[in-house]
Amino acid sequence: LADDGYRLWLKYDQLPEASQRKAALRNARFIAVPANASATLQTAARELQKGLQALLGQAVPVGEARGKGGILLTVAPDPALGREGYRVTTQDGNIRISGPTDAGVLYGSFALLRHLQTGQSLAGINLSSQPKIQYRLLNHWDNPNGTVERGYAGSSIWKWQELPEVLDPRYQDYARANASIGINGVVLNNVNASPRLLTAEYLRKVAALAGVMRPYGIRVYLSVFWAAPKVLGGLPTSDPLDPQVKRWWAAKMDEIYRAVPDFGGFVVKANSEGEPGPQDYGRNHAQGANMLAEALGQHDGIVMWRAFVYKADGSGDRFKEAYQEFQPLDGQFNPKVLVQVKNGPIDFQAREPFHPLFGKMPRTPLVLEVQLTQEYLGFATHLVYLAPLIKECLEADTHAKGLGSTVAKVVDGSLDQHRISGIAGVANIGADRNWTGHPMGQANWYAFGRLAWDHTLPAKAIAQEWTQMTLTQEPKAAATIVALLEQSRSIYVRYTTPMGLHHIMGQTLHYGPEPWLAKSARPDWTAVYYHRADAEGLGFDRTAQGSNALSLYYPPVQQQWGTLATCPLNYLLWFHHVPWDYKLSTGRTLWNELTTRYYTGADSVQWMQRQWAQVQPAVDPALHADVTARLLVQQREALWWRDACVLYFQSIARLPLPPGLPPPT
Ligand code: GCU
Repeated sequence: LADDGYRLWLKYDQLPEASQRKAALRNARFIAVPANASATLQTAARELQKGLQALLGQAVPVGEARGKGGILLTVAPDPALGREGYRVTTQDGNIRISGPTDAGVLYGSFALLRHLQTGQSLAGINLSSQPKIQYRLLNHWDNPNGTVERGYAGSSIWKWQELPEVLDPRYQDYARANASIGINGVVLNNVNASPRLLTAEYLRKVAALAGVMRPYGIRVYLSVFWAAPKVLGGLPTSDPLDPQVKRWWAAKMDEIYRAVPDFGGFVVKANSEGEPGPQDYGRNHAQGANMLAEALGQHDGIVMWRAFVYKADGSGDRFKEAYQEFQPLDGQFNPKVLVQVKNGPIDFQAREPFHPLFGKMPRTPLVLEVQLTQEYLGFATHLVYLAPLIKECLEADTHAKGLGSTVAKVVDGSLDQHRISGIAGVANIGADRNWTGHPMGQANWYAFGRLAWDHTLPAKAIAQEWTQMTLTQEPKAAATIVALLEQSRSIYVRYTTPMGLHHIMGQTLHYGPEPWLAKSARPDWTAVYYHRADAEGLGFDRTAQGSNALSLYYPPVQQQWGTLATCPLNYLLWFHHVPWDYKLSTGRTLWNELTTRYYTGADSVQWMQRQWAQVQPAVDPALHADVTARLLVQQREALWWRDACVLYFQSIARLPLPPGLPPPT
């Protein structure tokens, strides 16, 4: 039977008939849960049962403990584990999965299954882990009409018109997948939010979804439309300081929590890309966010206020604008507010330097927002494994408190001792049978969850887990696929935006190359605004001679990136306007290096195709054929990018291609 990808990494193919399976069998004779087990604990037991039965090919009953050789689920205080951690140990001939909360035990159960799925033995098993970040959220950019903003895997999985009565079984499958990687919150709707989600009609639907998610340790959240008091409440204003507005929100909060007692909270996109916000009334972001936080009252919810703001100022530098609006507000936010910051200062480009707000708002918990849907990374046709991109940001050193003040430490709250911490991934999930359109896109959902749980996990190790659980156990094929995943993002960067080029993609759709774009609805949406190519050279000067955006970073970062000689080549054109004939550390001129990267990038897609062809015997035939076909598109489009960019920049640089590179096709 062809694998249609629906089961994701929870496939649980039967373990080989070797010693592994035999060893596993000895300790999986039964699953014991306490008699009064909560819904979450029962879910853990059922998930274990489902997984073990499939892996082992035999029945594993759930019930009371019966001697040795079983798996015991217990909730027990364990201060070393935080709130959601777990331990998996052996005890008196049984395996014990314990945690301080039911959710911890659920995560431990999935950890045990992962352990087996990745071919490890149960003998002497001893696992323990706890999440480094507290709020681990997927953000869906899903609209009530079923479309998904920047979604490339079909329509929304939420069937609003059928809810609350009809609960598509897919909701539960979605919850399982998330719980298995530790995601504990889901923002159901688009940040460009429809006010409808806050109506009584929709809150019933939201409550129905929350009911499916709850046993999986997942809370639901909503994106809110700032002007709801006006639009839904009929008030003359949505001014956050207006007493009627405050009362309206407080009443709305009570209504929400009556419908969903464990509701998680809100994401707000305000005064950004045309959305309404507190600035419409002369108030700032903190005043807006704090009003919502206060309206929450005693309810256990949070407000994630997005920092994705910029002005249509063609002579300014969009890079600096979020910083300028938000940094001065540090210290003014209510304790229930987190500010949600994209990984980079522009907008989910294939490579961006870390956002300068990280490290510069020590008194505010910052949520890191990354994008799993590949808006600027080839949609669902290009194979791009995103863990290296996410890690690059997490591991970047802000130097806020000296060496080692990484973005990860800012985000997990350890650098500034925050009580709350969060990370958000803009989901790449849709109603396509395989969830993500590109079968390999599943790896990005998986990797996000794993990094949200533990940002120290290497991108490679995550790729290994995912590949073994999802595609193949055959060691050589698995290694080939892992190498392919690992390289895929830097290859994509090479054939689209090497050396720090950014925002030169096609307008509106954000697909394909359009470096010549000079006119747009907004000046800071054009390509020429960003690459600044002229007869002399290429790149956006953000040094003191230029926009001085570099000054937003701590001095060690400024020094490294601000000097042509020490700026990493991968960031060069983010910060410097470099003469075409400038000699780089590679020994090549800028022009030669740039064109070489475009060519080697496009060639590398052929390498990807060859690698993928090799694993054919070890991978499900239908899935293999699907990825093969998508790689064909990717190969064609890599040439499109290469040729479009090389020819366009050549028309400005007026230089020949370096020897050995064939003319564009
Ligand atoms: C990008 C994207 C928009 C989205 C916005 C955001 O600009 O193209 O569709 O709304 O990001 O993050 O708010």
